[in-house]
Amino acid sequence: AIARSSSSSSRTYVCARAYSSDSVPERKVAVLGAAGGIGQPLALLMKLNPLVSKLSLYDIAGTPGVAADVSHINTRSEVCGYAGEEHLGKALEGADVVIIPAGVPRKPGMTRDDLFNINAGIVKSLCTAIAKYCPHALVNMISNPVNSTVPIAAEVFKKAGTYDEKRLFGVTTLDVVRAKTFYAGKANVNVAEVNVPVIGGHAGITILPLFSQATPKANLSDEVIKALTKRTQDGGTEVVEAKAGKGSATLSMAYAGAIFADACLKGLNGVPDVVECSYVQSNVTELPFFASKVRLGKNGVEEVLGLGPLSDYEKETLESLKPELLSSIEKGIKFANQS
Ligand code: NAD
Ligand code: LMR
Repeated sequence: AIARSSSSSSRTYVCARAYSSDSVPERKVAVLGAAGGIGQPLALLMKLNPLVSKLSLYDIAGTPGVAADVSHINTRSEVCGYAGEEHLGKALEGADVVIIPAGVPRKPGMTRDDLFNINAGIVKSLCTAIAKYCPHALVNMISNPVNSTVPIAAEVFKKAGTYDEKRLFGVTTLDVVRAKTFYAGKANVNVAEVNVPVIGGHAGITILPLFSQATPKANLSDEVIKALTKRTQDGGTEVVEAKAGKGSATLSMAYAGAIFADACLKGLNGVPDVVECSYVQSNVTELPFFASKVRLGKNGVEEVLGLGPLSDYEKETLESLKPELLSSIEKGIKFANQS
């Protein structure tokens, strides 16, 4: 591979050549916030993905180093690292999938909504650039509070005239990953075989795992189901507290983000029956954005699937999460339209 650098002293731009791969379509994936706690392991995992032909790593600083590092891995993709806003357009041009883990993480005692003031502005400016440089990309939003950042992105795209509700996703895969892990532990089943849909949003009580639909089936008591639900809802906080001021989930999030991006790429490539949970524009409830199972295809969301049968506990919990989720959605929409 050849490495190019804009200048050896400033190191704002580094690229290394790709390797050919027969019969797999060319796909460019951009990661915005790629030098961060999530961004770096996510860059590694995307470099390992054979569906990626170009990996574009963007951050305000530090990305040429991350790019040079992962570019030595002997897999298909060309890797480019871009640092600084003046390179954002180049980082985005031609992207099929844009993954956004840019923004500040929580510290103990904070809610995800406490990140709104900083992250809303970051997401808004990144989405403005996406509308300009790669308006047809599938956007995977990781930056918190996801319940609000996805509506912000939608409003930015609407204003730019590029909004396509099929192409905007809030990444809630980590909730599914956690629900599967915690369920397998209690149900004593093979974790690799577990499936659990998680619906609603991505913050506290808005996260609703549907353990009544979990497979393989297990006879868990109501008490255990409630405890599993609470642990899934508080999974992020569990990590924030354990990291004691050094951030939130990064490694499990990178894993979850890589699974979701891979599903998007498979959908784009025409693989049938790719289904993942995601927070998307939705008619499944009266809320304009809602996480549920989504079938992915060549244009992004092919179908937002219904919720399926819910237990009485899940029905009640669903009703009680709606006011908080709606207010986070409205907060995002208001922010995007006022500033
Ligand atoms: P981090 O601070 O380690 O990394 C964030 C990166 O974003 C940094 O490298 C920073 O330079 C970069 N950044 C800041 N402003 C930017 C801009 N304008 N353009 C490009 N990059 C910019 O944080 P982290 O642990 O990686 O978390 C990132 C975000 O992901 C947080 O908001 C966190 O709450 C969220 N998160 C979401 C989930 C989820 O399930 N959706 C899970 C974990 C974390
Ligand atoms: C998570 O669920 O781990 C993330 O949303 C980060 C957080 O702040 O909890």
